[in-house]
Amino acid sequence: MTLAQGSMEFISVDDYARHAGEHLAPTAFDYYRSGAHDERTLARNKAAFSDYELHYRVLVDVSRRSTVTTVLGHSVASPILVAPTAFHRLACEAGELATVRAAGRAGTAMCLSTLSNTDVEEVTAQASGPVFFQLYVYKDRGATQALVGRAVDAGCQALVLTVDAPLLGTRERDVRNRFQLPSGLSIRNMLADGLGDLPADVADSGLAAYFATLLDQALTFRDVEWLASISPLPVVVKGIVRPEDAARAVEHGASAVVVSNHGGRQLDDSPATIDVLASIVDVVTGGAEVWMDGGIRRGTDVLKALAIGARAVLVGRPILWGLSVSGEEGAAHVLEILRAELDLAMALCGCPSVSDITRDLVRRRG
Ligand code: FNR
Ligand code: LAC
Repeated sequence: MTLAQGSMEFISVDDYARHAGEHLAPTAFDYYRSGAHDERTLARNKAAFSDYELHYRVLVDVSRRSTVTTVLGHSVASPILVAPTAFHRLACEAGELATVRAAGRAGTAMCLSTLSNTDVEEVTAQASGPVFFQLYVYKDRGATQALVGRAVDAGCQALVLTVDAPLLGTRERDVRNRFQLPSGLSIRNMLADGLGDLPADVADSGLAAYFATLLDQALTFRDVEWLASISPLPVVVKGIVRPEDAARAVEHGASAVVVSNHGGRQLDDSPATIDVLASIVDVVTGGAEVWMDGGIRRGTDVLKALAIGARAVLVGRPILWGLSVSGEEGAAHVLEILRAELDLAMALCGCPSVSDITRDLVRRRG
């Protein structure tokens, strides 16, 4: 295997993206890379960043810089967090354990998916930074509540409620592949409840069938309050693209919202997240944080999101590409590439610290 770190072959996130497929089973690669239907939102998330120009400041002393910030009161080495993504053991044997160690090495936070191939307790045992637990709400509220209890007891520091997936978006490659987990892998956190396996013998994606049969399609804003009431942890609502939804989430007890369209995997033709970020930042008040994800591949993308008002960004596929190429090393390297690119962008924009990254730095072209 190519040693990623230090190799000239891997100097950007896109280098990892280009090589990931060589290290993955074709069905796993398809699962990771796919977007919904025609994948227009998947493409737009990334492309939209090029519509924003950086009006950099000069003659600022940038000899000392810091990318340190806080999220929900936790200090992190950079505002670049690990997004919750399912099934890391498709990428490498150590799976989510590799991811949490990489996040720790980068000094940042990891969001752990409900649909991990590793038990939450094992993941937090390897953590040296904050772990936030991403929650899918099952029709079986007892099982959901037990899952939340486990996340709390394991030491997770927030609950990230994903609200853009009452049903799974159609990823046509997964349908054609009749996506299933390879034998030996399961949804570990749900195994004890008998909900740990994807239904076999379905005509399309096994994961889509899992969502349709087991997850709660009746979720409403009241459930944000419910979630906030059953644990001491702050609730983050992930998957918002409309200002009024963001405002309602906060009214119903969210401590943060994530502007996200699930990496273009749910509703095709939903807007690029960077394009709706400003409208959401402008309505979220009272100390609640706004995070965003979707298409972040460069430090300048991070800087643009922060300039518009995001507290932090999350990266999904870049971590999966790093894990696929070289496990923990690769994921850690991806996080370091992005942090170093952000640091350089800050230097070139006249921003010694994250709080200097203000909206006037960014203008939408045209
Ligand atoms: C995801 N995402 C996701 N989100 C979530 O809340 N729970 C999950 O289990 C998953 N699983 C998942 C699997 C894969 C393979 C991908 C690519 C994405 C969405 C994820 O958290 C995030 O919103 C996007 O990945 C961000 O876009 P980028 O960074 O991949 O462009
Ligand atoms: C996905 C789900 C698991 O995007 O969130 O595949």
